[in-house]
Amino acid sequence: MKEYGRTMSKLEIIIASTRPGRVGPQVGRWIEDAAGAHGGFSEVEMVDLAEVDLPFMNEPHHPRLGQYTHDHTRRWSEKVAEADAFAFVMPEYNYGYNAELKNAIDYLHHEWKYKPVGLVSYGGVAAGTRAAQMIKQVVTTLKMTPVFEAVSIPFVSQFLAEDGTLTPNEEMQTAAKAMLEELARTESALRPLRAT
Ligand SMILES: Cc1cc2nc3c(=O)[nH]c(=O)nc-3n(C[C@H](O)[C@H](O)[C@H](O)COP(=O)(O)O)c2cc1C
Repeated sequence: MKEYGRTMSKLEIIIASTRPGRVGPQVGRWIEDAAGAHGGFSEVEMVDLAEVDLPFMNEPHHPRLGQYTHDHTRRWSEKVAEADAFAFVMPEYNYGYNAELKNAIDYLHHEWKYKPVGLVSYGGVAAGTRAAQMIKQVVTTLKMTPVFEAVSIPFVSQFLAEDGTLTPNEEMQTAAKAMLEELARTESALRPLRAT
């Protein structure tokens, strides 16, 4: 967890992919650095779904009731509730977004509400944009606000060095800055709704 200047607001960067050999954490670390440089959030945390390690949804009650029966759900609920905004760092699998991310979303309800989400997608030629479009109908059901400004990374491996660091091109840097700016603005605008 890293702490930065200004207002008290927390951005959680959710690493969606969980498979061995995944590139999600490299993409996430770059977004974390970009968020630190941007300075619009007082706190930035990377949350790795591989570490959160949720089983397939196994709660008996609808999440809107908040009657969680498992510690893994209570821990996940606390983590998501702490956030004011999210960036989903998400791969495209078979023209859609990955199942682990859907599972993690479905576990909770109110914890997501009135919070903006920026979509950082990656993949092959389509840069994960099919996955990014697909997730919008799901997050809006939970009253999240997906911001228009997004980061779409085509052929992600071309930006990765052997040591695993990601070197963004100019378009990616510009897109990340615009997304973070809009996330910070939207987070601030939605704050009164989160307070009620
Ligand atoms: C099961 C699977 C399905 C994939 N389907 C697509 C796809 O539909 N479109 C695409 O652009 N890339 C696809 N890819 C390539 C991934 O975008 C690429 O491997 C990326 O690195 C996956 O993210 P990850 O490494 O964080 O898991 C697929 C990869 C996997 C493993």
